[in-house]
Amino acid sequence: MITQVLFSLQLLCVSCLLGNQQESMIKKLGREWMDFFKNVELKAPDPILGLTTAYKNDSREDKVNLGVGVYYDADLQQETMHVVHKAEEKLCRHERSKTYLSIDGDTGYLDALQELIFGENLEGVVSAQCVGGTGAIRVGLDLMKHVSGGTVHIPNPSWPNHLKVAMAAGLKTEKYPYFNNETHGIDFEKAFAYFSSLSKGSIVILHGCCHNPTGTDFSLEQWEKLSTLFLEKGLFPFFDLAYLGFGDGLDRDRAAIRLFAKSGHNMAVAASCSKNFGLYGERTGALYVVTSSKEEAVKVLSNVKQLIRSNYSNPPCHGAKLVGMILKDPTLRKEWEQELEQMRLGISGMRQ
Ligand SMILES: Cc1ncc(COP(=O)(O)O)c(C=O)c1O
Repeated sequence: MITQVLFSLQLLCVSCLLGNQQESMIKKLGREWMDFFKNVELKAPDPILGLTTAYKNDSREDKVNLGVGVYYDADLQQETMHVVHKAEEKLCRHERSKTYLSIDGDTGYLDALQELIFGENLEGVVSAQCVGGTGAIRVGLDLMKHVSGGTVHIPNPSWPNHLKVAMAAGLKTEKYPYFNNETHGIDFEKAFAYFSSLSKGSIVILHGCCHNPTGTDFSLEQWEKLSTLFLEKGLFPFFDLAYLGFGDGLDRDRAAIRLFAKSGHNMAVAASCSKNFGLYGERTGALYVVTSSKEEAVKVLSNVKQLIRSNYSNPPCHGAKLVGMILKDPTLRKEWEQELEQMRLGISGMRQ
């Protein structure tokens, strides 16, 4: 311990000396010492992660953490899903290499997840494995900035990172009316009127299910009206699907996306496996872009790949391998569906 402390002190002194030496050397040369970070401003902490820190520091026993979206069981434990453990054991026995994935990721995983979300592997769909759902939103919005521009319209309220990611992608942002604070439901008339006023090419962020933070989604009938309107107006639906299976069950939760895909939209889906597979830190997500044809898809994919290559080069492999295994193995898939359903019921019980 003492040796460690002495060693760190030594390192500190050496780096101070080096800094001073550099400064005096530069002064000797008659130049001014350039402090690159002198004008850096302190940024506010992320509101969601900041809330978690506030929760940790709160000494009250009846505190409730409404910060980052992580599933806790009835004993307030955050544990890896059993089915994920099983898949991991299998993977450890058979995995021979952890070599790089391709830029667009693990095809087995992407196809299996596409089938889970869309019901089938549709023609003209571009898919790319991304770094969690956030990474998929970022790559998707980078693509939109690159190919079409357009303002991104985000529900009010929404997951705060939508705004930040859209801004980071260099797109203009606006908020659209979503929630009625008096009725505690969706203000569909206002939302519909807002969408009706948008210009062609506008990008609209839609929560596929389990709207965060309100927990209130469009009804199927409302989704149908929106689908028709979006087609008429030439709006681009960009679905964020972070909670598939946590709302009203898998079928109901993916119904809006399936409806839009069948109706012939060009659209995007940013899917996350963080919550429904409990793979939070494994950063497992995917972007699906529905284009008009196979030929168009080839071109769009080449753009997506370029964006990924210059960003994080290629995605992490572990989580995707697990999800691929679970979805493709009928026994594991059944177990996953059952475990997910238990979690869903647990959440709805806790909400009650
Ligand atoms: C609505 C919404 N979208 C996307 C995400 C991002 O998920 P991921 O952790 O996979 O990046 C979250 C996470 O909390 C979310 O609530």
